[in-house]
Amino acid sequence: MLEVKKVGVVGLGAMGAGIAQLCVEAGVETVGREVTAELGEQARDRISHFLTRKVEKGQLKQSARDEAVAQLTLTTEFDAFAGCDLVIEAIVEELEPKRELFAALDRICGPEAVLATNTSALSVTEIAAATTKPERVVGMHFFNPAPLMPLVEIVRAELTADEPFETAYAFGERIGKTPIRCYDTPGFVVNRVLIPLLNDCIRVLDESRVTPEDLDTGMKNGAGWPMGPCALVDLVGIDVHVHASEALYEKTREPRMAPPPRLVAMRNAGLLGRKSGRGFYSYD
Ligand code: 3HC
Repeated sequence: MLEVKKVGVVGLGAMGAGIAQLCVEAGVETVGREVTAELGEQARDRISHFLTRKVEKGQLKQSARDEAVAQLTLTTEFDAFAGCDLVIEAIVEELEPKRELFAALDRICGPEAVLATNTSALSVTEIAAATTKPERVVGMHFFNPAPLMPLVEIVRAELTADEPFETAYAFGERIGKTPIRCYDTPGFVVNRVLIPLLNDCIRVLDESRVTPEDLDTGMKNGAGWPMGPCALVDLVGIDVHVHASEALYEKTREPRMAPPPRLVAMRNAGLLGRKSGRGFYSYD
């Protein structure tokens, strides 16, 4: 198994910043890439903020927080990944940009580097096929919010070799996650179940004329969910959820995978949940 001394994270949005936070907290030298320096700094601020909150709540020592923040280097270039043992991609959830990125990483990174995608609904095998070393490509699918959700799905694509797969699994454990091994099937394990379930919940809103508040109260108190389905879709992002539903519907043709019209209308209207300030609920 490869010893991961330096990790790269491509894309520092909510997921990428969360993944970078986990890496630096685990004491791993981390290079984070964003399109502009300004976006990179926003991610650094987000990571610093959450680590400071942990200090304030007595979950982290000030010195450990400072050491973690110091492990993060920002870049807008891809060349910075040349010395990375593992690169985790968390860019826009579209196949072509991901394939272009993996083709570039394939040229820049060393032959032993493991390339991981955080895709939630695209095919890891199709992303890997853009490289000359598909055996070194895996899925590392984190859950939102990445620093708080324990799971990471370690996804074996058609040509993934054992050593990179186990390197990704061990790295997941090292950054404090609970990894599971799975194959590159649509939605992997959790989204295969969760996406149609959330779509059912949204359809029930219209069928039973229950309010989002009451549906959430129902699922929290009657099914033991940590948060209600409407609050969860707001957290994930209505655009992200609709996109993942469309991708899974395209692959499985199961009607329950298709995004409910109500969610598509919300997405089209710019009601994207927490990130836009309004979804099923309003956020300050
Ligand atoms: N990093 C570190 N800390 C963070 C954080 C982050 N990114 N985001 C929030 N926090 C901290 C906050 O600082 C907050 O503390 P503070 O209010 O004192 O500052 C702390 O987390 C706790 O926040 P909450 O009070 O909201 O915590 P809860 O105890 O309510 O738990 C939760 C929050 C873990 C999100 C819980 O509600 C939960 O488990 N919800 C379900 C989430 C879920 O199902 N996610 C999966 C979505 S599906 C997915 O991601 C798949 C994808 O492919 C679409």
